Amino acid sequence: MNLNDIKEEIIRLKKEKDICILAHAYQRHDIWEVADYVGDSFGLSVQASKASNKNVIMCGVRFMAETVKILSPEKTVYLANPIAGCPMAEQMDVDMLQEVKKQYPDYTVVAYVNTTSELKTLCDVCVTSSSAVKIIKNIDNNKILFIPDCNLGDYISKQVPDKEIKLVHGGCPTHVRITEKDIEKAKALHPGAKILVHPECLPRVTALADFAGSTTEIMDFAENSNDTEFIIGTENSIVEHMQIKCPDKKFYALSKDCVCHNMYATTLMDVYNCVKGTGGEEIILEEEVRLGAKRSIDEMLRLG
Ligand code: 13P
Ligand code: SF4
Repeated sequence: MNLNDIKEEIIRLKKEKDICILAHAYQRHDIWEVADYVGDSFGLSVQASKASNKNVIMCGVRFMAETVKILSPEKTVYLANPIAGCPMAEQMDVDMLQEVKKQYPDYTVVAYVNTTSELKTLCDVCVTSSSAVKIIKNIDNNKILFIPDCNLGDYISKQVPDKEIKLVHGGCPTHVRITEKDIEKAKALHPGAKILVHPECLPRVTALADFAGSTTEIMDFAENSNDTEFIIGTENSIVEHMQIKCPDKKFYALSKDCVCHNMYATTLMDVYNCVKGTGGEEIILEEEVRLGAKRSIDEMLRLG
């Protein structure tokens, strides 16, 4: 079978088996082409709560598939490639968070959605990069404990200066590879280009950018802008996707190192094997964990 045959077979099988395919924006372009919905973390979680299909395949990382299962327990949910996890989601465990909560008992615990289901059971509300500022503004408490991405947390603190936001404890190992030196080099090579970065980047990098936003916000900015050259400071797949989407504009990677190997792990063959029923992993969550985590995701959908 050639690539086109595989794509056609995936599309035929997903209809026959009532499967909805969700793809995070960092997936390869051939996966975008067979997906029913492509988006950032927030878009995918909203889509997950609306999809009417009996079965869902998540092409992304494990916490995203878990989010789908948390919101849709009646659906059979698969992660297309079981090894695709998010290292940031594993950076903090339940014991660690319990300890921190004891130190800050009157703080509202806000978790980036890139966390395990177990960790979400201890949080008050989840946020994504595109919904974080709005949700935190809407929380009826000025004291916020934000986990686990200190870089996104720093970006949010600057947008919501009237709240006291404590940051604990990690960051995205992919986005932190971008340095100020990369900005200097990119500006020298492409002086007219706009620099667009994800707030998971280091604060000193975000400070030098022309625009900071979630993956979808970066893509929308570039598509709708009158500018024609962009330096992309997020996972490098976005450079390729945008070049296909906007062939008359030019896109450059801010750093060749901004590649998420976990996002890249899923291939079209994984999706094919998953729709065929010979690959992927069904996501099973204990009901107590699912309900505990659901509370914080429901709160995210309500406040966002
Ligand atoms: P968004 O999809 O919310 O932009 O998050 C980026 C990311 O790193 C997802 O894992
Ligand atoms: Fe996790 Fe960063 Fe990869 Fe997103 S890009 S899945 S936050 S490691």
